[in-house]
Amino acid sequence: MRILVTGGAGYIASHTAVSLLDRGHQPVLLDNFCNSKPAVLDRIEALTRQRPTLLKMDVRDTDAVARALREHDCQAVIHFAALKAVGESVEKPLAYYENNIQGTLSLLAAMRSSGVKTLVFSSSATVYSADQPMPLREDGLLGTSSPYGRTKLMVENILADVAAADKTLSFTSLRYFNPVGAHPSGTMGEDPRGIPNNLMPFVAQVAVGRLPRLRVFGNDYPTVDGTGMRDYIHVCDLAEGHVSALNHAHGRAGWHVFNLGTGQGTSVMQVLQAFSLACGRELPYEVVPRRSGDVAACWADPHHAESTLGWRASRTLEMMCADAWRWQSANPMGYPD
Ligand code: NAD
Ligand code: WQD
Repeated sequence: MRILVTGGAGYIASHTAVSLLDRGHQPVLLDNFCNSKPAVLDRIEALTRQRPTLLKMDVRDTDAVARALREHDCQAVIHFAALKAVGESVEKPLAYYENNIQGTLSLLAAMRSSGVKTLVFSSSATVYSADQPMPLREDGLLGTSSPYGRTKLMVENILADVAAADKTLSFTSLRYFNPVGAHPSGTMGEDPRGIPNNLMPFVAQVAVGRLPRLRVFGNDYPTVDGTGMRDYIHVCDLAEGHVSALNHAHGRAGWHVFNLGTGQGTSVMQVLQAFSLACGRELPYEVVPRRSGDVAACWADPHHAESTLGWRASRTLEMMCADAWRWQSANPMGYPD
């Protein structure tokens, strides 16, 4: 299949592009580089011996996206392009609604005008309401507390409505839990701008000496050791989940929703310990007050993806840390400009 991948130079999309190429698909990557660099294309080429097309384009440019869909004869779209920082979304909600909502509406218009009917959307565990028992199932209570989370939930609602109105469309929402790690080659990984918001890239930058110590946000949660628990999933498992979702979606109209997680909760201290083992030294940390908006625990029930897509995450926490460390130590400042 030829697949348009919006946000194609980003962290999860670039790993997905490698999985798609490995399975004989042809991704066409589209990105405006607001949170990524074109250099990732050289890494994709080095790993796969194929150089996919990379279009510098904003997903909100409906005409250009429609042209790209037609010129490259795409049969499906994977829609990663979005802004994703929860804290920033509270400061700049309009930027999030403009980019994430308008971006999706524009993409849907481009798909309609070029006759592309299959879409896989990057959703998030953040669409689930806090304070419900773990693990989270796809039919769990929805509700979210940040503008970023609301953009994901609103887009899910838009996609469900559009798919209900046109029975020829196949739309899939993948709710990612906590994507971490890097390609095992150490040539591709997460390259956040500025100080990382998320745990694993922060720990990786402590390990490589870019940051002095981890600040553990609270150790008084009702969890195994008092620190927050999450469902960390290796980015390569996640990438393969997209290939499975696309295979399932093709020729199967309707609205489909899947959790992509491991089904296992891991605490902040367990991540820190696993990363220390991976990099071969104790990593400094201090416990500070809870971060506002955090929940104690969040992990997936992954059975729906397993039984319907035939996909399950297989990579361990040790592999997530070893691969993240290989990437960070070989590329301490991320991708070149
Ligand atoms: P990322 O920032 O690395 O990738 C997003 C890419 O989209 C970037 O390359 C960025 O430049 C591009 N982009 C943003 N707005 C664009 C626009 N208007 N036009 C064209 N390109 C645009 O982030 P990621 O971690 O790879 O996340 C990918 C998707 O997965 C996002 O939709 C994100 O919300 C979702 N998601 C991420 C996580 C996570 O923890 N990383 C968890 C759940 C869901
Ligand atoms: C994990 C754990 C923190 C940083 C976020 C988004 C979510 C999704 C994934 C996009 C928590 C603790 C963290 C640090 C810490 N993204 N922590 N010190 O908050 O589960 O999810 O990313 O959709 O929407 O909210 O991930 O990696 O930020 O935090 O102690 O410096 O690590 O308190 O318990 P989170 P995270």
